[in-house]
Amino acid sequence: MKAGDGSAEAKRRAGEAAAAAVEDGMVVGLGTGSTAAAAIEAIGRAVAEGLDVRGIPTSAESATLARDHAIPLTTLAAVDGVDLAIDGADQVAGGDLVKGGGAAHTREKLIDAAADRFLVVVDDSKLADALDWPIPIAALRGAERVVAGRIRELGGEATLRPAERKDGPVVTDDGHLVIDADFGAIDDPARLACSLSAIPGVVEHGLFVDLADEIYVGTDDGVEVLSGDR
Ligand code: A5P
Repeated sequence: MKAGDGSAEAKRRAGEAAAAAVEDGMVVGLGTGSTAAAAIEAIGRAVAEGLDVRGIPTSAESATLARDHAIPLTTLAAVDGVDLAIDGADQVAGGDLVKGGGAAHTREKLIDAAADRFLVVVDDSKLADALDWPIPIAALRGAERVVAGRIRELGGEATLRPAERKDGPVVTDDGHLVIDADFGAIDDPARLACSLSAIPGVVEHGLFVDLADEIYVGTDDGVEVLSGDR
């Protein structure tokens, strides 16, 4: 499930503005989605001009894009730390996010949380007063009925994400299923995040609480940078 699309131009502006924060020698987390793709392409252009960086992709899709742009890649296991991560979001309220519209949120959270600085890149259609986007939840295969039941006990509506152009459900890069959990407007994202993490069979959920350092919001006119501490 993908959030309502803002303009391609606004996404490009946000991605390119965040990519300008990448400095020589950095290890950079490379996010997933169309807005993060604009950042990866901009980093690729800088690499072609001599920038020395190593990227850690958050999905097979971002790895392919980074390779297409000749960005040297590494892994979390091979580095001492991640200097910066740039990633998109499906919805932003205050400094909290819903991610996982592309089913990549497990690796995204791992890499974004490992970064010293995490920049979120979105178009302005993603901003909301409260998070109410269904939360993608990666579940172990075979755990989907149990996890869906626990989500319902927490007051959510659970839908196993169907694949497109394939019979059956979406299977993530790491072999998990995705349940979209609709809780309506979420008044306490931190508490819900803890409750979801505590469900046996949940690998990771798409609520990103207190992780964002800055939010680059692209519009058709420019880019506004918001603090993640809001
Ligand atoms: C991937 O699983 C998501 O978390 C994406 O980062 C999110 O869906 C944003 O994608 P767009 O930039 O394409 O809207």
